Amino acid sequence: MVPVMSLTPVTARACANIALVKYWGKRDPALNLPAAPSLSLTLEALTTETTVAFDEALPYDQLILDGTLAKPDDRERVTAFLDLVRAEAGVPIKARVTTKNDFPTASGLASSASGFAALALAATRAAGLTLEPRALSILARRGSGSAARSVFGGFVHMHSGARTEDAYAEPVEAPADFTSKLRMVIAVVGGGVVKQHASRDAMTHTAATSPMYKAWLDLVPKDMEAALAALAKGDIAALGALAEANALAMHASAITARPAVIYWQPATLAVLAEVRGLRSAGKQAWATIDAGPHVKVLTTAEDAELIQSAIVDIPGVTAVTISGVGSDATVVDAAKVVSLG
Ligand code: PMV
Repeated sequence: MVPVMSLTPVTARACANIALVKYWGKRDPALNLPAAPSLSLTLEALTTETTVAFDEALPYDQLILDGTLAKPDDRERVTAFLDLVRAEAGVPIKARVTTKNDFPTASGLASSASGFAALALAATRAAGLTLEPRALSILARRGSGSAARSVFGGFVHMHSGARTEDAYAEPVEAPADFTSKLRMVIAVVGGGVVKQHASRDAMTHTAATSPMYKAWLDLVPKDMEAALAALAKGDIAALGALAEANALAMHASAITARPAVIYWQPATLAVLAEVRGLRSAGKQAWATIDAGPHVKVLTTAEDAELIQSAIVDIPGVTAVTISGVGSDATVVDAAKVVSLG
């Protein structure tokens, strides 16, 4: 007789993260091995909640994204990820994945980090596995490189590692009063309807064609060392200056790819100019930009509202949210009993 498999659904929540030293380039695209390390800050205002239910009645995996059945491309990415979990857990059945992004607006802000971290946690638990945080981070990385960092709260260091089992993220200690006072002001540019180059393709294209890519790769270890030193001292000015410079270097490599990958819009540069002006006026404000037109400003609780009001009316800025520092990915609704019989 075929054994009946009964698995209870599990819901997990993870926060997005913003890199201060960027991940931009893979050593191995199939395994999502980063070419260099990265450093990020997890944000409490941007969360994803995901429920995974393995169900023998399903002929294939189902993905429901913010209430709508997902596009085949997105579903295939989730199926490839679930296949890793199924292989590890010895669970051959398909799953229904229901995921909801609690982002400030339909913004086009990267959700793959929080998405794959929440999926890794919910899917492994729903399949009856309890992974150590490091193993969970390695698994999340297979979904999206930046997701390895969203397994943890606070500041997070992603190691590029020599082998797949060495490419994991781990939390970095910082003075507690420093972390609790930090804020990220997130300026959404273009209302999220902007067509973007997916980061996973754009970084590979940059690596293959940009004359600046080698300079970028040489820079990252130096920026990591300086950023970690600034963090240990709780020196926001040094950390912020590094983060802004590192983001601009990442974009320099992308802009000089052939053909060019340009994420910036006029409003992106207008926000950047405002941030630099605020800084000249003595405010704590440093900008970073990812694979999209939005600008995130590293600042303190003291200056966050002033920065928000200075950028909210810039034409092209469609929403501005202030976020504090987020915590580890967590299970929010776990099965009391998981029976495999
Ligand atoms: O993990 P991915 O494929 O979403 O790539 C993230 C790339 C950046 O957001 C631009 C940088 C980073 O380190 O998060």
